[in-house]
Amino acid sequence: MNELYIGLMSGTSLDGIDAVLVDFCQDAPRLIGNHAQTIPNVLRTQIQQLCDAELPANEINQMGAVDRQIGLLFAEAVLTLCKQSGVSPKDIKAIGSHGQTIRHYPNGHDQQGLSPNKQHGFTLQIGDANTIAVQTGIDVVADFRKKDVALGGQGAPLVPAFHQYVFGDKSVDRMIVNIGGMANLTFLPAQREQQVTGYDTGPGNTLLDGWCIRHTNQPYDKDGSWGRSGELNQALLQRLLGDDYFTQASPKSTGREKFNLSWLEAILGDQSMPVQDVQATLVHLSAISIADEIKQITNKGDVYLCGGGSRNGYLVETIALYLNEFEVMNTEVLGVNPDWVEAIAFAWLARAYVLKQPGNMPSVTGASRAAVLGCYFPFA
Ligand SMILES: Nc1ncnc2c1ncn2[C@@H]1O[C@H](COP(=O)(O)OP(=O)(O)OP(=O)(O)O)[C@@H](O)[C@H]1O
Ligand SMILES: [Mg+2]
Repeated sequence: MNELYIGLMSGTSLDGIDAVLVDFCQDAPRLIGNHAQTIPNVLRTQIQQLCDAELPANEINQMGAVDRQIGLLFAEAVLTLCKQSGVSPKDIKAIGSHGQTIRHYPNGHDQQGLSPNKQHGFTLQIGDANTIAVQTGIDVVADFRKKDVALGGQGAPLVPAFHQYVFGDKSVDRMIVNIGGMANLTFLPAQREQQVTGYDTGPGNTLLDGWCIRHTNQPYDKDGSWGRSGELNQALLQRLLGDDYFTQASPKSTGREKFNLSWLEAILGDQSMPVQDVQATLVHLSAISIADEIKQITNKGDVYLCGGGSRNGYLVETIALYLNEFEVMNTEVLGVNPDWVEAIAFAWLARAYVLKQPGNMPSVTGASRAAVLGCYFPFA
């Protein structure tokens, strides 16, 4: 008997919508099909405008329309995935849809002029789940992050519980590092009495993509070859690492509201240097911020990378350089394609909702308790 769920993920990089069809009927989740849905350029630009906290656009009208458009595109991804996999939508138990984050301020908006304890933290993902349900004929679970925020948590990262389920091992400590727009890690101790920890380490690909588009007109630096042609600028790296986020204690999570090109430009100032040296330095920034956090947690174990950044050879080599006492691999070694881990996690979170099982880990997000996450949007 199959237990089919679909996971939908579109991350901060806006590189596309990842859709996966997963069967949970056995011990390990089995990936039946996957599909990467392109985001049309006009829609991508509209989403980028909504993500820009400093743009005083007519945000409510734009958000309403973009919410529906993303819902339609997510539905198209699901229908394409079902067709390609030869599976009927009526055989799918539910879709887990992450949505598209357009704002992540779990600690409150720092421009409210209020002290942090008087601010109302929030996180906002759009991509209308009602539209997805209506268009696909499949029940949808969405809006996974807000309950955790309501419980005083960061609402992120939410993947550690899934990482524990699929990658946890009783004989060896494992570190799972997802390098998306931001990078997040999960520490899975072999000893179950030790707590699972996890948080966002800082930028993953977002600054690399932004700088690359600006100077080469390419959406990302394929395999890191452009960055590799530059040289690390140690003084700039130290200034970038001077940001408080890197020394802040966990729980912590971040987004494009903080790590964006304006942040980089403010630190660069009027200092001139070859643009590819900046790219090389940004690779070192992502790598060292990941490596330093890992070394703070443990001094041994295996490190498994996933997410788009695990396809950037220069970034992976640089991470391995800073982690020479660890073995650095990717999740393929554990049987899960690194491109689909996040989307599979949202299929799993939909299943957790259906089974009324908690999706968050208070040791990770800082929420006051474990909770069933998400809202249910039935087709009926
Ligand atoms: N071959 C490659 N070489 C270099 N970078 C790559 C390659 N393939 C993907 N990437 C990088 O990975 C990014 C996409 O990664 P991914 O889809 O994991 O991030 P995301 O959508 O932001 O998800 P999230 O932040 O939620 O984890 C691209 O924007 C690009 O920077
Ligand atoms: Mg992506």
